[in-house]
Amino acid sequence: MKPAPFAYHRPTSLDEALALLARYGPDGRVLAGGQSLMPALNMRLATPAALIDINRVPGLDGIAVEGDALVIGALARHDALEHSALVARHAPLIAQAMPHVGHRAIRARGTLGGSVALADPAAELPACLLALDAVVHAAGPEGAREIPAARFFRGIYITALREEEIVTAVAVPWRAQAGARASMSSPGATATAPSSASPRTVAWTTASSARRVLPSAASARCLCVPRAPRRPWSAGPSSPTGPPKRRAHSRAIWTRRATSTRAPPSGDTWRACSSPVAWARCSVDATVAISLTVNGAPVRRRVEPRQSLVDFLRYEFELTGSHVGCEHGVCGACSVRVDGAVLRGCLMLAVQCDGSRVETVEGVAATGEARDLQQAFAVENALQCGFCTPGILLTAQDVLARRPDPSPEEIREALSGNYCRCTGYHAIVAAVRRTAEARARA
Ligand code: FES
Ligand code: FES
Repeated sequence: MKPAPFAYHRPTSLDEALALLARYGPDGRVLAGGQSLMPALNMRLATPAALIDINRVPGLDGIAVEGDALVIGALARHDALEHSALVARHAPLIAQAMPHVGHRAIRARGTLGGSVALADPAAELPACLLALDAVVHAAGPEGAREIPAARFFRGIYITALREEEIVTAVAVPWRAQAGARASMSSPGATATAPSSASPRTVAWTTASSARRVLPSAASARCLCVPRAPRRPWSAGPSSPTGPPKRRAHSRAIWTRRATSTRAPPSGDTWRACSSPVAWARCSVDATVAISLTVNGAPVRRRVEPRQSLVDFLRYEFELTGSHVGCEHGVCGACSVRVDGAVLRGCLMLAVQCDGSRVETVEGVAATGEARDLQQAFAVENALQCGFCTPGILLTAQDVLARRPDPSPEEIREALSGNYCRCTGYHAIVAAVRRTAEARARA
């Protein structure tokens, strides 16, 4: 297991989550989609004392029109934003931006709230919210706050969110957007890899106003440049007001935490690890009981909270079809299906799958669901070493389920999150096309 030990909490109400955040202070982390936090944990860039998993807090994943705003809950996933009719109608810029976020498996898990709270300069959502004059809703011990995006995003990984607050929703005003045009250039490669090589632009134009936002890793903050009538583009506000407050996920904080020897919050029992590294602490009561189905079979286990889903499947059940590659969400070798969605097994904790339906390539092979696809891979010689093949099979099967007759370009885009080290891409695309054609004939 790669992350340092941490306590795991799964609150079922916002009040409970806020109380836990207050209890742990800067040593607690909120876990939403986890698509940026998990890589940091796997690489031990973040070593929190506790994770507060808010995924089962009810009422945070809605998308609804309230008055003159589209209100999107913090737990709305990128995939939901991409396919929501309300988002397409009232905030088309967001719908247009979503396909540029990571890959489908990342979008199936990543959340709006997580992206907003992290404020990654390479992320699409913060730029969209700036362009749309959105308002971020946050909850904390002192009640709810509404913070305009222009004041919320203060710099690279720096926001106005207080340490003890949680983002609960975002409100996007939609009334003035009739006839608006949106554009976005240069899609990002992943949700977690900032790049200063090719600056992207989000442009948003209505009949009465225009706005261009430049998410930039080279800048101290995203530049939001409103256009005044009959005047050329000018620099945006020169600096945020007040001292910048670094969020818990910022790299500076990760680094500081990595060298911290701070004692755990009172009420928890810890023992010092024998490791010479100060931050490698171990919880005494370290395992959590979970029950789930794996390839159709109900199972119960006790797991350490820090164990990833892919490691859990490999070590507990010898389901070694899901491979461990990069462990930060890029290569797709660890792909598994959780409750019907293909996800990264390295970016999800086993403990999060309590009550879920987990399927691996072995389960899919056993049911015969993708037998024709497997045969097409053999016929087209679409595998060499086979390291990538289980993840690609699961993803391709997902593509064919969503879109029965995908074009080669659509197949390439859908599989772009699955790396083949042997580079057999032409044959892989041919195998997927062969399967689509055969299924159409059948
Ligand atoms: Fe999970 Fe590479 S994406 S191991
Ligand atoms: Fe070797 Fe894809 S066949 S990594």
